[in-house]
Amino acid sequence: MSEETLSNLLHENRRFEPPAELAADANVKADAYEQARADRESFWAEQANRLDWAQTWDRVLDWDNPPFAKWFVGGRLNAAYNCVDRHVEAGRGDKVAFHFVGEPEGTDGKAEGRDITYAQLKDEVSKAANAIAALGVAAGDRVAIYMPMIPEAIVAMLACARLGAPHTVVFGGFSAEALSSRILDCGAKLVITADGGYRRGAASALKPAVDEAVAKVEAEQAGLVENVLVVRRTGQEVAFGDRDVWWHDAVDSASAEHEPEAFDSEHPLYVMYTSGTTGKPKGILHTTGGYLVGASYTHHAVFDLKPETDVYWCTADIGWVTGHSYIVYGPLANGVTQVLYEGTPDTPHKGRWWEIVQDKKVTLFYTAPTAIRTFMKWGREIPDKFDLSSLRLLGSVGEPINPEAYIWYRSVIGGDRTPVVDTWWQTETGMIMISPLPGVTASKPGSAMTPLPGVSADVVDLEGKPVGNGAGGYLVLTEPWPAMLRTLWGDDERFKETYWSRYAAQGFYFAGDGAKKDEDGDLWLLGRVDDVMNVSGHRLSTTEIESALVSHPRVAEAAVVGAADETTGQAVCAFVILREGGSGAEGDELVQELRGHVAKEIGAIAKPRQIMVVAELPKTRSGKIMRRLLRDVAENRQVGDVTTLADSTVMDLIAKGLSSGKAED
Ligand code: WTA
Repeated sequence: MSEETLSNLLHENRRFEPPAELAADANVKADAYEQARADRESFWAEQANRLDWAQTWDRVLDWDNPPFAKWFVGGRLNAAYNCVDRHVEAGRGDKVAFHFVGEPEGTDGKAEGRDITYAQLKDEVSKAANAIAALGVAAGDRVAIYMPMIPEAIVAMLACARLGAPHTVVFGGFSAEALSSRILDCGAKLVITADGGYRRGAASALKPAVDEAVAKVEAEQAGLVENVLVVRRTGQEVAFGDRDVWWHDAVDSASAEHEPEAFDSEHPLYVMYTSGTTGKPKGILHTTGGYLVGASYTHHAVFDLKPETDVYWCTADIGWVTGHSYIVYGPLANGVTQVLYEGTPDTPHKGRWWEIVQDKKVTLFYTAPTAIRTFMKWGREIPDKFDLSSLRLLGSVGEPINPEAYIWYRSVIGGDRTPVVDTWWQTETGMIMISPLPGVTASKPGSAMTPLPGVSADVVDLEGKPVGNGAGGYLVLTEPWPAMLRTLWGDDERFKETYWSRYAAQGFYFAGDGAKKDEDGDLWLLGRVDDVMNVSGHRLSTTEIESALVSHPRVAEAAVVGAADETTGQAVCAFVILREGGSGAEGDELVQELRGHVAKEIGAIAKPRQIMVVAELPKTRSGKIMRRLLRDVAENRQVGDVTTLADSTVMDLIAKGLSSGKAED
């Protein structure tokens, strides 16, 4: 973010007080901050009572061996039981868990879909657990899930949780290559997928990518993947091999009786891969008790969730952490009714989301700034056609929300009535950490405001000293929290190095984000300070894309930067040096080929917006690429200070050569 944008932000002086009615009846009031400050552990113990434990814990937090935390030590519980069975046992079996809305239109011209009650969900999860167990999956075994946004995806996750088999959900937009590396890294013996899903009005295949991924895995570690369980969604033609099993064969005939076993509070629940600063994605490990407490409490507090009356909709994909914490674990633990939508916002028309809000009478809505900026571009006439009066609270996540988008969201979607909660958190934190409380906080557009009760964050300088109000620095989390990542799958050293070494003396968790405290001490998140980009709220590693580019035979060297983009927040811009004497496509055609190559290696989300073929890259004398200068070029800015460059004429060369090689779609 440029200095100018930043200072504009900090002069933002609009305030939105909580609506009086909401404040009067809020789930969490101002005293929660005080209570948590006075005794953080007993505060979290109280929140843990939201769950059903087969055995209570003897100790709230074991932080004797930092940075390895244990929460609710000695406690035992089953996550799926907490998300499903207990609601049925409490007499709420007929309550709708999901209004599933498919992307295709049904025969009656309305969206295809169905309602799934908690009782039905319990049966489905139990059947799937029996079927998966029959395939040889036991507690501790890993299962990879690569699915469209259909109810079976959530059933699959919960069935794994029920068996104590950690899942790793891989976003359906990732490539076969990305899927295979994740299967290998966590050693998954079962892959759950579908023939395909519906996206943008067409059936989009998934199974071929799984076949390719499993073949790659087979070449590296024969016999690792024992079975692939396939949901029939689109009816597309699929290749079916010996290890493939149809979901409708295995699950539909399985018994709906399944006894959930209680697992240790620290039993692994899932691994979620996320981009880091090196080429290799990090497997973030979340465990059961603390994670579920954190997800459930924050969902209750930040969304002021009233499970009896609210209809909640989070538009994230279950392939990301937001889908894990705020579609599956938090909301289901809280017994809410929610919307699950398979498709894209513009299919079959650009008002699709608002039509769903109107039809399902959605009250709580959670999405990303990128989506909001896209709707702003399409114009308010579209949402204005629908009755959005059911909405009472709006949430934002994934990237900084600029005040303009915040105001548009609040006024056009929220009819100037609804609070907007800007929620900062990460795959690693597992739960929302910094956010307004809708019944307490007078929010400022663009600020995530303050850490939630029970959460401690600060902004510090390079030495780890807290900065004063009005100053900026690095965001740190200063105390352990229940949903914190426990380690990186199979790599304790990288876990310590990545998050805990920078401020080892203080024992702070380094989040990798820049932040500023305003004059009131409220927090403004400013984006990543490492080589991680945030494109449409998705984390992408510059190094990972660079590695993908240099794996193409024509590319000798590559540098990638995230450049500011009006809609997606940041966009991937790549600079490549070609190998000498290569032959094949040239110019635009080559650029397209390279973009396609990145999509094949990582996934379509990583496709560079722009690839510029250059003769040289700006490097320091020690050989480090100066991405700052490349960012200047990519953002069409005056190139900054070049005095530390080994060869100061390089930037002129790049600027001159930029007439060719731009690609946008
Ligand atoms: C960014 C998504 C500003 C941040 C839940 C963080 C945000 C990264 C916000 C985590 C926000 C997320 N304001 N920035 N409200 N929320 N971020 O792991 O850079 O996909 O470190 O988790 O997104 O992305 P992740």
